[in-house]
Amino acid sequence: MHTLRDILEQTQKNGVAIGHFNIADLVLLKAVFAAAQELNFPVLVGVSEGEREFIGVHQIAALVRSLREEFDFPIFLNADHTHSLPNAVEAAKAGFDAIVFDLSALPFEQNVRQTKGAVEALKSINPNILVEGEIGDIGIGSEIHEDVPDLTKGLTDPKEARQFVESTGIDILAPAVGNMHGMLQSMVQGKTRKHLDIERIAQIKTAARILLTLHGGSGTDDEDLRRAIAAGINIVHINTELRVAWRHGLEDALVKLPHEVVPYKILPFAVESVKQVASSRLRLFNNAR
Ligand code: G3H
Ligand code: ZN
Repeated sequence: MHTLRDILEQTQKNGVAIGHFNIADLVLLKAVFAAAQELNFPVLVGVSEGEREFIGVHQIAALVRSLREEFDFPIFLNADHTHSLPNAVEAAKAGFDAIVFDLSALPFEQNVRQTKGAVEALKSINPNILVEGEIGDIGIGSEIHEDVPDLTKGLTDPKEARQFVESTGIDILAPAVGNMHGMLQSMVQGKTRKHLDIERIAQIKTAARILLTLHGGSGTDDEDLRRAIAAGINIVHINTELRVAWRHGLEDALVKLPHEVVPYKILPFAVESVKQVASSRLRLFNNAR
């Protein structure tokens, strides 16, 4: 079985990106896995600190490992947006393939110093683990927001990106390039889309020469995503779009089956709804129709 690093290097050579989908329950995991398996694209599932508090750090590690082994399929697990070293260490010890160590809210020097320390600590637990660091401001959670936050002051500077990568020893960088977490109601309705600073992505790639993750992928314009991948993005994170689909699928089931109480008859509607979103995003990231 290939490692996540092998897969990322291969997808970089092929000019495509890996889809990263956040999950918080078995419905989301089943849907993302079914989409990836049907299309035969490698996939990364992520759990933030809140998501793994709900699903369980060791439980999600066991579930993802069981899918990988039983189906001999390249599905990998990421500890998304981890804000403390003890939480990162817990995930590394549980067997996660990657950790997003996110101290982007701290001043640059503190972010550098603590991220460097985390890289050393996590690699001493598992030398193959991939550590992602983050600089810049990509806003708050994967929810429906009332207003667009002003993120223009927090955009990642290419020189600072290089300095951060060289000083910390991270494997992957998450920059702020016009992306933001979550969606506006107008994005859920398909009336507006997020747009990215493609030129900045290309400059960061040239300066930092490292694998790049785009966070806040939900609601982003398709053509911008294609251009961002061509400019050097290797992983794209999608969360809010799946959460919206999960809710809509569930609502649909409850309307269609008003008297049903059997979970395995209700929940497949949510699985199908999430699977459709994951499939469509996977096709786009992998340049497929
Ligand atoms: O880490 C999670 C992602 O960056 C998801 O962002 O909810 O805008 O898709 P999103
Ligand atoms: Zn994110």
